[in-house]
Amino acid sequence: MSNIQIDSSKAVSFLSENTIASLEPRVKAAQKALEEGTCPGNDFLGWMHLASETSPELLADIKETANVLRENCDTIVVAGIGGSYLGARAIIEALSNSFQWLINDGKNPVILFAGNNISEDYLSELTLFLKNRKFGVINISKSGTTTETALAFRLLRKQCEEQRGIETARKVIVAITDAKKGAARTTADKEGYKSFIIPDNVGGRFSVLTPVGLLPIACAGFDIEALVKGAADMERACAPSVPFNENPAEQYAATRFALYQAGKKIEILANYQPKLHFMNEWWKQLYGESEGKDGKGIFPAAVDLTTDLHSMGQWIQEGERTVFETVISVENPNANVLFPHDEENLDGLNFLEGKHVDEVNKMAELGTRLAHVDGGVPNLRIVMEKLDEYTIGQLIYFFERGCGISGLLLEVNPFNQPGVEAYKKNMFALLGKPGYENETAAIKARI
Ligand code: PA5
Repeated sequence: MSNIQIDSSKAVSFLSENTIASLEPRVKAAQKALEEGTCPGNDFLGWMHLASETSPELLADIKETANVLRENCDTIVVAGIGGSYLGARAIIEALSNSFQWLINDGKNPVILFAGNNISEDYLSELTLFLKNRKFGVINISKSGTTTETALAFRLLRKQCEEQRGIETARKVIVAITDAKKGAARTTADKEGYKSFIIPDNVGGRFSVLTPVGLLPIACAGFDIEALVKGAADMERACAPSVPFNENPAEQYAATRFALYQAGKKIEILANYQPKLHFMNEWWKQLYGESEGKDGKGIFPAAVDLTTDLHSMGQWIQEGERTVFETVISVENPNANVLFPHDEENLDGLNFLEGKHVDEVNKMAELGTRLAHVDGGVPNLRIVMEKLDEYTIGQLIYFFERGCGISGLLLEVNPFNQPGVEAYKKNMFALLGKPGYENETAAIKARI
């Protein structure tokens, strides 16, 4: 069953008749190549059936590890960057009370994220915050050598050992990394940390349904079985055997590709729930890293609405007409707040009295949609029933599958990221890393 619907009526109206239908053979060919493993990057297709093939033993192991961390920690720091970070954060924030990290209810540990920047201030402030806290660490790095994460982990491990003692530190530090190689693996094996493996055939940005995402999400107290079930159900809903017109991932991929061909080079992902901010960030990495290569690719941008209507709204309404918008619309809120009465009514808003805040939000969404369409911005709408583990699992897989198909329509390898190395090479050369002597001389000559 799919709790996610896609409405492309206000996007296809910008395209010539039959444009989407004419893409069906190409979309089905992309699906076949994904399914049969004949596409570029076919050594990284492990994500496709992860959800339906996740073993109960792995889920039980993750839950048991999460319980050890929850029982022994008031704070858990998740160290990781890019694909080793964004999925967990996106899902935890989407499911959490917006003020969760300020609530000291004793039920759930505070989940913090580190290893995703090289800011001295951030790391210093984190160290200070963790002082006197019973904290644990989940160190996530597929390569095990990423600078941002390795730096944070050095600091966190030292502080954890000093504050909690070596034995306890060994219990509350968990590694999620490669089976054999990299610093994170070597340290985990040497110290006897509990560890999980990131499968070789799953790239970072497609890894949220492995322990990379599932362990932090379980630590935050959420139901990872429901999440995986949602993803597995969406896997079935997006299978190549599902007719083109009924297949959400195929419809999404075909529509955005047609819009790209019609000159819409930027996709703005919009949400109307602040909790989805990091879902936008996760999506940006998924699509940006998968498609932006060989001089091609839709630029993935994102806004939080209605917040950003007061900053970016002008540009979207009247800026260069190279954008289209994809809105994630959550049908039912989890809470219940009515617009209040005010005796003086100075703001003139008493006409809204007694209405659900969500009804006002929905009218803002509809009004914005129509205004943007009038302004020349094609609009796709992804409607999800509610924010719960099952539906979010569906959303995650929907975007992953849509991304695989989209990349193949663009004729790029959606599963590599050669461009990510360029900054690292320059940074290491500038910092004088051994082995980079030639690059150091060359880069210094350019400054
Ligand atoms: O999607 C990717 O492959 C990247 O974003 C990586 O996830 C990111 O660079 C982190 O790499 P690692 O897990 O090796 O530390």
